[in-house]
Amino acid sequence: MSLPLRVKMAPGGPEVSRLAYGAWRLLNDEQDADAQRVLALIQTCLDQGITTFDHADIYGGYRCEAAFGAALRASPGLRQRMELVSKCGIMLVDPARPQNRIKHYDYSRQHIIASVENSLRNLATDYLDVLLLHRPSPLLDPDEVAEALRQLVSQGKVRYLGVSNFTPAQLDALASRLDQPLVTNQVELHPLRLEPFLDGTLDQCLQHRISPMAWSPLAGGRLLKGEGGAESRVRAVLSELARKYGAELDQLVYAWLLRHPSRIIPVLGTQRLERITSVAGALSLELDIQDWFAVWSASSGAPVP
Ligand SMILES: NC(=O)c1ccc[n+]([C@@H]2O[C@H](COP(=O)([O-])OP(=O)(O)OC[C@H]3O[C@@H](n4cnc5c(N)ncnc54)[C@H](OP(=O)(O)O)[C@@H]3O)[C@@H](O)[C@H]2O)c1
Repeated sequence: MSLPLRVKMAPGGPEVSRLAYGAWRLLNDEQDADAQRVLALIQTCLDQGITTFDHADIYGGYRCEAAFGAALRASPGLRQRMELVSKCGIMLVDPARPQNRIKHYDYSRQHIIASVENSLRNLATDYLDVLLLHRPSPLLDPDEVAEALRQLVSQGKVRYLGVSNFTPAQLDALASRLDQPLVTNQVELHPLRLEPFLDGTLDQCLQHRISPMAWSPLAGGRLLKGEGGAESRVRAVLSELARKYGAELDQLVYAWLLRHPSRIIPVLGTQRLERITSVAGALSLELDIQDWFAVWSASSGAPVP
């Protein structure tokens, strides 16, 4: 039985695709900015039912949103067929931001609003489906942030709100100042990073029925190519399962994430069209419970207690 292609991110939240596509690596190579290539990536995702695209102001040295937006300008009907997620708050030392002397976070009202308005211009859209605060900051003032977010929502520039890399306590602190729910926490989550399963992050998602988004679901590719204790052990188990299920290794990793009851949304990072095409197969791969724990134990290096 296949999982549905779409999921409601939270009660009162947006409907998004069960798998999302991330734009972080869009401009890994200079020639990648070509609008036709970006269009082909977008179209391949849409053909697979992947309609949710994950951005951040900073991706590609502040240039990925604009490259994606150029593709949308070339084919304006596409915007209606997708959900756009973007983020703000990280300030990089980068030629595009000469005023930044040191990498830092800025969640001032003024910066949040300016960053979102810039994302809208770059992405060639009037609204973001979901805005995420990219990383928690020790200086984040929930009252000030809430004021900025309320303004963006009331102006129709942002529809839904979420966070990324927040602890449960940080998410609760911000949520306590908002009059609409936070609809996701986007965290690093894959078989080599089990902490969110154990530190309350996913429990909080279950409690509030919000879908976490899993960034770097293949550990940035390390899971499939890297060497080392846990990497090698997990890959050995995945290779056995690949034979058993007649599936690709990456499909098995996505299926492993999809098996969790919090309805994790993996955010894909591949630049290869053929890999995007095969990913949807993960939705019909239901891992046996003992196979799921075999991956877990290979990662942790021991059976569960
Ligand atoms: N919120 C945050 O703080 C945060 C941080 C990081 C990332 N993100 C989001 O998460 C998204 C995904 O992250 P990611 O790109 O690290 O995801 P990922 O899927 O874990 O890693 C993608 C990398 O793995 C390689 N890869 C994919 N399939 C492979 C396969 N079958 N065999 C070998 N290598 C393979 C890809 O190379 P090919 O292109 O050659 O396939 C690419 O280099 C980002 O685009 C971004 O939207 C969010």
